[in-house]
Amino acid sequence: MPKITISVIKADIGSIGGHVRPSQKLLEAVENYIKQKGRGLILDYYLNFTGDDVSILSTHRRGVLDSKIHRLCWEALVAGTKAAKSQGLYAAGQDLLKEAFAKNVKGMGPAVAEMEFEERPAEPFLFFQADKTDPGAFNLPLYLGFADPMHCSGLMLSPKIKKGFKFVVMDVNYTQADKIIELNVPEDLYDLAALLRDPERFVIESIFSRASGEQAVAASTTRLRNIAGKYVGKDDPVMLVRVQSDFPATGEILSPFAIAPYVAGFMRGSHTGPLMPVKKNSTISYFDGPPIISGLGFCVKNGKLTEPVDLFDQPFWDEVRKRASIKAKEIRAQGFFGAAMLPYSELEYGGIVETLKALEKKFKIRK
Ligand code: 13P
Ligand code: 13P
Ligand code: MG
Ligand code: MG
Repeated sequence: MPKITISVIKADIGSIGGHVRPSQKLLEAVENYIKQKGRGLILDYYLNFTGDDVSILSTHRRGVLDSKIHRLCWEALVAGTKAAKSQGLYAAGQDLLKEAFAKNVKGMGPAVAEMEFEERPAEPFLFFQADKTDPGAFNLPLYLGFADPMHCSGLMLSPKIKKGFKFVVMDVNYTQADKIIELNVPEDLYDLAALLRDPERFVIESIFSRASGEQAVAASTTRLRNIAGKYVGKDDPVMLVRVQSDFPATGEILSPFAIAPYVAGFMRGSHTGPLMPVKKNSTISYFDGPPIISGLGFCVKNGKLTEPVDLFDQPFWDEVRKRASIKAKEIRAQGFFGAAMLPYSELEYGGIVETLKALEKKFKIRK
């Protein structure tokens, strides 16, 4: 059987009532475009939104970074932007940063996560989409889910998983090309931790099984500020995770999300907030947040997708959400102070630069 490719292309193209959620009309415009123009090109698709971001998940046989697939999704997002403008939605076309489509959407604004592989007889995979945060938010859950037996019991219990995983980590501050490092766990575990502790600079791009060489994870790494040169919105990442047999079980991947770790994002992409696991198609509220993540489970056969299962729609996660709300209120209690806001390096693409430049001139060195 030829390989299949799963592609997720995601963008914020405008939303109702601020940065809250896309409109029905916008979603319909994107879906209609994919349905009509995707015929003969894609095998199946699923349209999703989390907060104000819309994602197009498609299956096809054209491989990653395929210009026809990317163009189809780009043009669907352009059609959605047109609908957004017609309704006066806020920040219509926010993430479409370039005018003309070139080869693929990399470097044009939308986030991309894609994987090409030979389908296993049973092919379960998970699709995560986060809003009001950035790609580094996945560093901790992926580290714990693939490299820590406290969460991934398969590292002790399954001979195949015990062989460990190869992590590919990107230095997202380097903008001329992709700058990556490959680290194998368990041997390189501490080096991996040393990089992943800095999620604004080092971001997991992919993970591979060392037993089979098969790819388990593809995650988006876009940093919009590096394309736009200013703050235009957060990078709201997406990722695909293949699970079971050679890979961690679904529940091992979900386990770290119970921490609701503090991540970068929240209001104006400038604060620290807890990552709250939410149900499908959740919206944004308190302080333009909190940062949220949705998780959908699928199986795929010959490119045909099952209906999704909503992974965080289960009573267990109600308590996690409640605790995330408490964590959000706790850190918000200190407003702009210290750890509640991101360091200057993360804010330097925003308006605070002008204020600080003006103040710099007023500083005096005491004689
Ligand atoms: P305004 O441009 O309305 O101040 O909003 C800023 C913002 O929300 C950044 O995305
Ligand atoms: P988004 O990146 O989700 O558009 O959020 C922007 C923002 O500034 C929210 O306050
Ligand atoms: Mg937005
Ligand atoms: Mg968003």
